[in-house]
Amino acid sequence: MQLERMMDDRTISGQQLWHWWQGARQAAIASEVPLVELEWLMQELCSIDRLTLRLESFKTRPQVTLDVTLADLDRLWTQRLRDRVPVQYLAGRVRWRRFCLQVSPAVLIPRPETEGMIDLVAAAVQHYPHLAAGAWADLGTGSGAIALALAQLLPEARIYAVDVSAEALAIAQANAVTCGLSDRLQVSQGSWFAGLPPEAMPLSGMVSNPPYIPTALLDELQPEVRDHEPSLALDGGADGLDCIRHLAAIAPRYLKIGGLWLVELMDGQGGAVRSLLQQTGQYDPIDIHLDLAGRQRFALAYRGQ
Ligand SMILES: C[S@@+](CC[C@H](N)C(=O)[O-])C[C@H]1O[C@@H](n2cnc3c(N)ncnc32)[C@H](O)[C@@H]1O
Repeated sequence: MQLERMMDDRTISGQQLWHWWQGARQAAIASEVPLVELEWLMQELCSIDRLTLRLESFKTRPQVTLDVTLADLDRLWTQRLRDRVPVQYLAGRVRWRRFCLQVSPAVLIPRPETEGMIDLVAAAVQHYPHLAAGAWADLGTGSGAIALALAQLLPEARIYAVDVSAEALAIAQANAVTCGLSDRLQVSQGSWFAGLPPEAMPLSGMVSNPPYIPTALLDELQPEVRDHEPSLALDGGADGLDCIRHLAAIAPRYLKIGGLWLVELMDGQGGAVRSLLQQTGQYDPIDIHLDLAGRQRFALAYRGQ
């Protein structure tokens, strides 16, 4: 009875939380789930910072107030270990750049390497300051991460966040509101450029992290991705390049001369994407950029004359 009451209460003693944590750690080790994920979940849902967790100093607190009951925390951790649900979906949020973004299984969890796209845009507008104004599009916006970072980076620009998924757009819109940037970007449903309103054209820049995984490789992805992230966000067709091929072919119709074309890609796709862009005869220069791990990650080009 006392245990039930404790499990249903959001305010518990530090000692009780510590005991739960010990069991959760053992279960994580047995399931080969990194302990850092448990730490992250506790930081998010138990309002305990990293240092306090590392020092285990919460153990002596008379009271700890959780965002959820201990029973719910336990259920969430079981879902992580047994069903391989990504910890970000369990918490319903992720930290990306300086944003705290809402996520659900309707959207891809924004990855740290995608932040490199924003650094590339920052460098590009420093080099070509006229691109800092006008309209920019984030095609396949998902949670809205890239669009929000563009809105923050480019205060003079109008930002359009497009996705074919209405569920994803609802999350992008909610994130724009929470981040205080909803007056800076417009979400719009449709397929790639077809989702843009006519007044957005011609664009100063187009940024996209499209689905780029070859269909045959989807089964080989780790279960957290394969079984929980939306296949609409992952499946790039037979060679993984269906969406990128489309974006390379039609973007010149929508970009202003000198406008920026930037996509994320998978390691090994750089040469093929460079060829796709070259074949159109409409981009110059074309560069493939690496991520911090030294893998091919982005293709950046400008619409030529
Ligand atoms: C790899 S996810 C990227 C999400 C987000 N931009 C990010 O970087 O975290 C690809 C996104 O493209 C969207 N998408 C797939 N096909 C699309 C299409 N035809 N038109 C627009 N968006 C599409 C998916 O719904 C998904 O949100």
